Amino acid sequence: MAKMWAGRTAGLTDKLADDFNSSIRFDCKMYKQDITGSMAHAAMLGAKGILTEEETQTLIDGLSQILADLEKGALAFDWQCEDIHMFVEQELTNRLGALGKKLHTARSRNDQVALDLRMYLREETDRLTAEVKGLLEVLLEQAETHRATILPGYTHLQRAQPVTFGHHLLAYAMMLLRDLDRLQDGRKRINCSPIGCCALAGTTYDTDRWMEAERLGFTDLCRNSIDGVSDRDFCVEFLNTCAILMMHLSRFSEELILWSSWEFRFVELSDAYTTGSSIMPQKKNPDMAELIRGKTGRVYGDLMALLTTLKGLPLAYNKDMQEDKESVFDAVETVHQCLQVMTPMVETMQVRADRMKLAAQEGFINATDLADYLVKKGLPFRSAYKISGELVAECMKRSCVLETLPLEVYRSFSPLFDEDLYPEIALETCVEKRISEGGTSASSVDAQISYVREKLGKEETSS
Ligand code: ARG
Repeated sequence: MAKMWAGRTAGLTDKLADDFNSSIRFDCKMYKQDITGSMAHAAMLGAKGILTEEETQTLIDGLSQILADLEKGALAFDWQCEDIHMFVEQELTNRLGALGKKLHTARSRNDQVALDLRMYLREETDRLTAEVKGLLEVLLEQAETHRATILPGYTHLQRAQPVTFGHHLLAYAMMLLRDLDRLQDGRKRINCSPIGCCALAGTTYDTDRWMEAERLGFTDLCRNSIDGVSDRDFCVEFLNTCAILMMHLSRFSEELILWSSWEFRFVELSDAYTTGSSIMPQKKNPDMAELIRGKTGRVYGDLMALLTTLKGLPLAYNKDMQEDKESVFDAVETVHQCLQVMTPMVETMQVRADRMKLAAQEGFINATDLADYLVKKGLPFRSAYKISGELVAECMKRSCVLETLPLEVYRSFSPLFDEDLYPEIALETCVEKRISEGGTSASSVDAQISYVREKLGKEETSS
């Protein structure tokens, strides 16, 4: 069948070239945006007298019929069409005859595809925003429950200082808050309308780009028509936000994997989010967390692929840009799936406070507090640090911990030690005294929870 753009050429491309060129297989995802955009376009053409009122109404009715038929499965995509835009126009022309061919007045597929993609990403940004908020809620709940649960905090994956589990979880909450910020900020740049830029140069028709934009919920216009059809920054930014968000989910997943290992046993993931082994009966594998970690690579790939596609393109539209959609769709789907699994997995995980406490008791993680004790008694920190280190070595020699090392031994290292040292180095004290802003004490954790809640509340009202 000859193409709709047959004219200069007969429009008869090679079958393989046709398949290679076509995007309907994936851009059919944007049928709703395409049709809604076209309805706004017809309305604008009517309002400006470019189409008659009757023509406008017939086009809008025809388009809404096509949308309804697609939604209820009464109309199937024609995979022979080059893309979703051609499909809708072809279907409209089949139904309305010559009038269908008038819809494409004062626009081009170049501004049309940019419009569809922006509308799609605006919706997806809102969906992901809601999902990230859902994960944040679950994190807040767990943090509240474990505001005073003690575990070792790590640096270099070596036990470092005691922290509360609530504090640790809230570190992820802060990351997710920034992800929300990035999503919202990017949305501002997504929400500019490119329609009316036409092929690249604008149009000689007396159109009203603002009218069309406002009808579609855009708050701004692409102010330069060449930029409007060339710009995919909004996709790159979106993918960047997704990549960072995935990096956060991946780090969290890595910890869940580690914590659910027999060596740690800090958490037990619900059976619903683990799998068994086909050969080893004792196994409970954290597949979901591993997949989230693994899929992070895909999303990074999506970002890199699009950046690379765009880097050498002259202005304005080039067919290379058709590649934008698969990267964007893949990232959207992947992040969505990961959030959907991550949230209930975190919600249902069992936290083993007993195991955490045990680990906290074993790694001399109160050695800093021991040094601080001597500092408070007047010793310079560096000297106090040295004595503390020597005491740790002494404990290791004696197979005991700082809490059980006898006072006489302490005194043989420094006369400054007294009975009052024991309550000072109790794990509970180490944690409770860290009340500096952002610190690990239960009261600091409460303050951080309030901060996140307040941020979430504000988000709600501002969007
Ligand atoms: N399928 C194309 C894309 O996704 C639509 C725009 C085509 N424009 C053109 N001049 N060939 O980018």
